[in-house]
Amino acid sequence: MISKPTIQKIIEEARVEDVVGEFVTLKKRGANLLGLCPFHNEKTPSFNVNPARNIYKCFGCGKAGGPLQFLMDYQQLTYPDALRYLAKKYNIEIEETRDETDQKEQIEKQNLTESIYIANAYAQKFFTGYMFNNEAGAVGLAYFKERGFLDKTIEKFQLGYAPDGGDVLTKKMLKEGYQLDILKKAGLTSPKEGSTYDFFRNRVMFPIHNMTGKVVAYGGRIMVKDEKAPKYVNTAESEVYQKSKILYGGFFAKNEIRKKDECLMVEGYTDVISLHQSGIENAVSSSGTSLTVEQIRLIKRMTPNITMLYDGDAAGIKAALRGTDLILEEGMNVRIVVLPSPEDPDSYVKKVGTDAFQKYIQENKKDLILFKTSLFAAEAKTDPIKKAELIRDIVDSIAKIPDTIQRSVYVKESSQLFDMSEQILITEVNKARRKKQGEQHKEEEKQQQREEVKKDELTAAAHKQEVFENPTNLPVLEHDIIRILLEFGSWKTQGEENEIPVVQYVLDELEGSDVETPKYKVIYELIKKEFADGRVHDEAFFTANDDEQVRNLAIDILTQPYTLSDNWWIKYKVAVAEKKDRFVKDIHSTIIRFKQFRNIAELRKVEKLIKDAKDDGELFKLIKLHKLLIEQKKEFARTIGNVIYRPAT
Ligand code: GTP
Ligand code: MN
Repeated sequence: MISKPTIQKIIEEARVEDVVGEFVTLKKRGANLLGLCPFHNEKTPSFNVNPARNIYKCFGCGKAGGPLQFLMDYQQLTYPDALRYLAKKYNIEIEETRDETDQKEQIEKQNLTESIYIANAYAQKFFTGYMFNNEAGAVGLAYFKERGFLDKTIEKFQLGYAPDGGDVLTKKMLKEGYQLDILKKAGLTSPKEGSTYDFFRNRVMFPIHNMTGKVVAYGGRIMVKDEKAPKYVNTAESEVYQKSKILYGGFFAKNEIRKKDECLMVEGYTDVISLHQSGIENAVSSSGTSLTVEQIRLIKRMTPNITMLYDGDAAGIKAALRGTDLILEEGMNVRIVVLPSPEDPDSYVKKVGTDAFQKYIQENKKDLILFKTSLFAAEAKTDPIKKAELIRDIVDSIAKIPDTIQRSVYVKESSQLFDMSEQILITEVNKARRKKQGEQHKEEEKQQQREEVKKDELTAAAHKQEVFENPTNLPVLEHDIIRILLEFGSWKTQGEENEIPVVQYVLDELEGSDVETPKYKVIYELIKKEFADGRVHDEAFFTANDDEQVRNLAIDILTQPYTLSDNWWIKYKVAVAEKKDRFVKDIHSTIIRFKQFRNIAELRKVEKLIKDAKDDGELFKLIKLHKLLIEQKKEFARTIGNVIYRPAT
């Protein structure tokens, strides 16, 4: 268990912009950062990162949180794993609590995902260790050496060798306390009921890492040519491994992909490894399958530019064309390089060296249109039917590009290539777009409508709020109370004789009246309790709180597109200056509006009682109370007037 102080230190150190920035390309937008939401598919960025608050929020899908939450949601890490990840990132030493249970118990305690990660990590060390240290493993090392992999490459990619003999790994891990069930779920042991057979036997092992560098699966390669046995055996999909969402080499390539603003796609494990060894470190692979939308989106967070490297044979070219339309649909740029047959990136870089390899890529990189055209040009020239087919194919591809300008560039290009009028091509492209987008468009429109309704509701609520003669409903006011407590609670009151924390000021002012709306009550009671115990917290305590309900609500409140009070001030043309200048007024007006609401509710109650009053004494008392409340009401109205109309200083 990670100790409380360590957790505290990690939470204090972790910066949301660092953590999110590892996975999402962020652009500065005012004080905040903006990017494409990694949690849903979108074309215009609505994923907001607020460094000052150390939180992110997507205004499209609503996902929100801090650095920890991001890792848990996006990388599917467990809470302790996310903490460990951050500790590593920020060089924080992890202090474990004393009452550490023995390893066996620890293993049992971990939840399934974490257990699978642990098992995979163990197996990786085992495979690598076996290859380097065990006589029987030397064949594996010899194989890699034969292929030209250097020791440092083998270590970086954590390559290894799975022993022959049946159940060497499984037996060892069972002895270490791992459960058979977990070994099967991790894919290390044969899935057959009751079997303790190793899944990988006598193969060289390529661990497959997720974007944070954890081993989630393996590819095992046979070392000899065998017509009957498959060349590669892969871990089946598991709790932690969904093939369609993994890019082989992604973890090792992510920084370089950003830096070069380009991602090289190759086909195989060995292609990735060879390129990295040659200093070309922005290469990843989809591991034999054609590129999926999820993989494309993983890349999209790092760069919009994908360059696909393919073998020069017919199968390679066919593979190159597969998946390219998906890339276009995501609005990304796809370029294709075909290597001279029969080379693949691995063999070719070894043959010609890094510089010549890179030169070849630069010189032979073709965008999709050019690529398709050059591929079929010879045929198309002499065969008008082939030509029509080719044009149709290219028109369909262009139609998939979301960006208008990009489309028109392609139209121009192909009109020259085919010696065809631009206008005809435009008409065709538009036709294809209308057809293809008919349904997708409807869905988008619906989504837009939904968003507009939401906006309207917010505006309506804000509008209602402005009509202060007729105070809004309680939840809106309570929302604002909580907001100022979260936002300013740890600030100090200004101009008072004795400076006190705002939380104290607000609690004093509200004395006697409780927060009623259940979700706000939870936070309110927490603040009260913490304050009673002598603790005053800034917003990070809430936005990074252990309690998910507290955390989510705090983030939600603090990241409203505009707060109701903001609108209030704008409406009355009070300059919304620095937060510092505004905060006193903000607090005052919020408290007064809250009290005013209470006052009016009270007034109504008293009026009703007066109507029903039977006895004179009671009536007299009620009338006195009524008068008092009316006075208060006037007072509130005056104060509000003052607060609102006083020009900003
Ligand atoms: P080498 O032949 O060792 O250079 O491997 P490679 O990575 O170049 O393999 P190849 O180009 O033949 O295939 C590309 C990718 O397809 C591999 O990296 C694997 O991910 C996948 N693949 C190839 N053969 C098999 C197979 O028999 N089974 C499975 N499941 N995947 C395979
Ligand atoms: Mn190969």
